[in-house]
Amino acid sequence: MKLVVINGPNLNLTGMRSPNVYGTDTLETITEELNGYVIYETLCRTCLDACRDAGVECELFQSNHEGDIIDAIHAAMNEFDGIIINPGAYTHYSYAIRDAIEAVGLPTVEVHLSDIHAREPFRAVSVIEPVCIAQ
Ligand code: DQA
Repeated sequence: MKLVVINGPNLNLTGMRSPNVYGTDTLETITEELNGYVIYETLCRTCLDACRDAGVECELFQSNHEGDIIDAIHAAMNEFDGIIINPGAYTHYSYAIRDAIEAVGLPTVEVHLSDIHAREPFRAVSVIEPVCIAQ
């Protein structure tokens, strides 16, 4: 099985952005490349390790741009068996990302670092959730 993990806007700043909400672990700092194996710090490292332990291949992608995220979802169609996505603030209003997930038809799981149901009311609404198999 091969999964793509897509992180949306501002998630590249994880570790220094609102650390009281999102923690101090960084998302995606490539620290070294060893024998062709890229070592990511903390959160991405954790993700890669969890996938490896589960015998799942995984690729990581982050973008601050809605269109690039949509392109990554489209590209996943022929390459991956499923999508794990943290759409960041796009969660709450991007019908375009929602439609892209629906269009490719891959099983998709929506994830967040924080509990979006325990924060500001606008964060409790996800337009992505209805096209995902789990949030
Ligand atoms: C987030 C929650 C969103 O509301 C917010 O805009 C983010 C991060 C999370 O992972 O908790 O950027 O997706």
